[in-house]
Amino acid sequence: MQDLAVDIKITQTEQSRLPQIDFNDIPFGKHYSDHMFVADYKDGKWQDLRIVPYSDFSLSPTTSALHYGQAIFEGLKAFRNEKNPKEVLVFRPEDNALRLNESAKRMCMPELPTEIFMQGLHKLLDLDRKWVPDTQGSSLYIRPFMFATDAFLGMRPSNTYTFAIVTGPAGVYYSKPVNVKVEKEYSRTCAGGTGFAKVAGNYAASLLPAKLAAEQGYDQLLWTDSSEHKYIEESGTMNVMFQINDTIVTAPTVPVEDTILRSITRLSVLEILEGMGLKVEERRVSVAEIIEAAKNGTLKDAFGTGTAVTIAPIASIGNDGEKLELPPVESRTVSAKVKETLQGIQRGLIEDTKGWVYRI
Ligand code: PLP
Ligand code: COI
Repeated sequence: MQDLAVDIKITQTEQSRLPQIDFNDIPFGKHYSDHMFVADYKDGKWQDLRIVPYSDFSLSPTTSALHYGQAIFEGLKAFRNEKNPKEVLVFRPEDNALRLNESAKRMCMPELPTEIFMQGLHKLLDLDRKWVPDTQGSSLYIRPFMFATDAFLGMRPSNTYTFAIVTGPAGVYYSKPVNVKVEKEYSRTCAGGTGFAKVAGNYAASLLPAKLAAEQGYDQLLWTDSSEHKYIEESGTMNVMFQINDTIVTAPTVPVEDTILRSITRLSVLEILEGMGLKVEERRVSVAEIIEAAKNGTLKDAFGTGTAVTIAPIASIGNDGEKLELPPVESRTVSAKVKETLQGIQRGLIEDTKGWVYRI
C-alpha cells in the first residue's frame, strides 16, 4: 500500500457479526460488514476520518440531503484472489473515486481527494477482509456515498457533508436472464440533466416507471432519449450492449451523451471485446433497429454490464405491447466469453495486464 498522509482513526467493534452470516444465503444489499469508513466535510475541508463499527447515523429532520437531494453514491466490488485466497482484489477503485468526483461537481458538492477514498477503502477492507466471500458468484459489494448534512431549509448548496463507505457480502444480482421493456413515456433524466452522474435522484425518478413495468412482468426498463424516445440509452442498473451479426453496438457516454452513466464495467467490457477482435460501435442505437434485428434474427446477443449485475443476459425485449424473445442464452458465445474474461481478471484467475485490479 502506498503510504499516504491520511490519518484515519480506527475503532473496532467489540463483537463481530460474521458468525451470524450464512455465506450460502447472501442476497444483494441485505448484509453489511462490521465496520464503515466515515469522513466529514466542514469549514472547507474533509476531516475526522474514521473507521467505526457499522451503525446508524443521527440526522436532523432538516438535513438538506433529505429535502434537496444532494446525495451521490458509487458501487464497486472486492473479490478473493482464487489463486491466493489471503489476498483481496478490488476492481478499478480509482475509477470509482474519479466518478464520485464527477458526480460531486454536478451536484455542487465538494470533491473528495482520491487519497482519502483509496486509503479509507484500503483500511476498511483490510480490517473486514474476512467478510469477502469465497463462494462462487459472490463478492463483497462496496458502497461509497456522500450526502449533504446542513440542518437548514434555505435553498442553497450545503456547507457540510458526510462521506462514508459501507460494504456487504453479496451473491448474484439477477439470478436469471432479464426481461426488459422499452420505456417511451417516462424518463430518468434528460440532456443537460444528471444522467451521467451517480446521483440518488436518478434512481428515485426511475422507481415508478420500473414498478409499472414490473406489474407487466418486466424486470427492468430500457431507457430511451427523453426528447423522442427513439434511441436506447441504458437500463436501470446497467448499461446495455447488442450484438447485431458480428458487431457490438452500444450507446456512447460522456462527452457524447450526458444522459447515460459512464459505467466502469462498460469501459472494461469494450476493451475485452476489442481484445477478442470484435467490431464495436459506440453510437446512438435506435429502438427500431434493435426491434428489427430481433425480428429478422440478426440480433445474436443482448446484455447488460454493471458492477452489481456483472454481465446480465437479456432474455426478452418488450416494445409497444409486443414481447420479443431473444436467442437462447446457451447460444450466446460473445457475452459468455466476456463474462468469463471479466470475472477471471476480477478473481485473479486471468492475469491483469491492464492494471484494473487493486490488491489488499
Ligand atoms: N447504469 C446505471 C443506471 C447503474 O446504476 C449502473 C451501476 O452502477 C451502471 C449503469 C453500471 O455502472 P458500473 O459498471 O460503473 O457499475
Ligand atoms: C451498481 O452496480 O453498483 C449499482 O449501483 C447498481 C445499483 C443500483 C444496484
